[in-house]
Amino acid sequence: MGSGVIKKYWEYLPVTDETPLLSLGEGDTPLVRSSHIEKQVGCEELYFKLEGCNPTGSFKDRGMVVAMAKALESNSVAVMCASTGNTSASAAAYGAYCNLPVMVLIPKGEVALGKLAQAMAYGAKIVMVDGNFDDALQLVRDFTAKHEVTLVNSVNPHRLEGQKTGAFEVSDVLGDAPDYMFIPVGNAGNITAYWKGFKEYKDRGKTNKLPRMMGFQAAGAAPIVMGEIVSSPQTIASAIRIGNPASWQNALNARDESDGSINSVTDDEILDAYRMLASEEGIFGEPASAASVAGLFKSTAQGLDLSGKRVVCVITGSGLKDPDLAVSSIQSGAIEIPANMASLENIALNLG
Ligand code: F0G
Repeated sequence: MGSGVIKKYWEYLPVTDETPLLSLGEGDTPLVRSSHIEKQVGCEELYFKLEGCNPTGSFKDRGMVVAMAKALESNSVAVMCASTGNTSASAAAYGAYCNLPVMVLIPKGEVALGKLAQAMAYGAKIVMVDGNFDDALQLVRDFTAKHEVTLVNSVNPHRLEGQKTGAFEVSDVLGDAPDYMFIPVGNAGNITAYWKGFKEYKDRGKTNKLPRMMGFQAAGAAPIVMGEIVSSPQTIASAIRIGNPASWQNALNARDESDGSINSVTDDEILDAYRMLASEEGIFGEPASAASVAGLFKSTAQGLDLSGKRVVCVITGSGLKDPDLAVSSIQSGAIEIPANMASLENIALNLG
């Protein structure tokens, strides 16, 4: 436990004797059995893969540790990424750990406060681009093609190699692949990586079956669902506010090869799932993460029969990343009282 994904899964990763065995303790995240939603959607077993338990609070750390180790191995002098927030937090953390300078390009005004705070604390150079994520990623791709700086977005294949370890862990814990994987889709790297992981495990005889990959985009940022680039993507789930995903074709392949689907969920559906996940399951994911659960509700409401099935939803990042949204969207109604027993009793004894 806690040794990190490179050490744990080195035989499945592109590592050599020269690759440093870096780790900030990523991976080994909990797979938690649902206590309520499982019954509501009528499946045999429902689990949540809590990727918010990674060192920087999202699944990005799995891929970043491999990308960073390979960057060090090839004597890179600096790394760069575009990000809706989580990739930048992860790159910044691993860059600090490895002593590699990190520059992150983020869409101005569109990154959740917690993620921005992380990049600042870890000491990355932060560049706010007056444009959206897709503009920022294009800039990073062009810059890194021209200069000796390593790109650590998921178009770097080492990122996907690391991220596929999420599929290994799910399979290791369940003893086989699940029947269905529900997963949010933004730049489409993660659905690509999970599918790669499940296929590799089956090829190596570690599992007997493959899951159906069920990807979900936000309705205002659903280029894959609509079949065309979205030039001004809009959604409350800022992590997946992406109009031209880099791994678009790979996501389609994952969908088609697995007999799965890629669909969209509205912001209202995302927020309902976000609140329900927290208040009924005790799991505080970020809004983008709740898209997988919103997708699960939507699919079953549309007739998907999950009886007898084992289902996993990937909760990709921690709800703590976006405290503003939590406070503004959840009417928890804190009660203010004077600091005396009579006032407390007046409130607390009338709870039921
Ligand atoms: N969930 C969270 C919390 C994310 O941060 C992201 C992507 C996704 C889901 C979607 O994953 O892009 O592999 O399809 N965040 C990227 C970033 C884009 O910059 O942090 P994907």
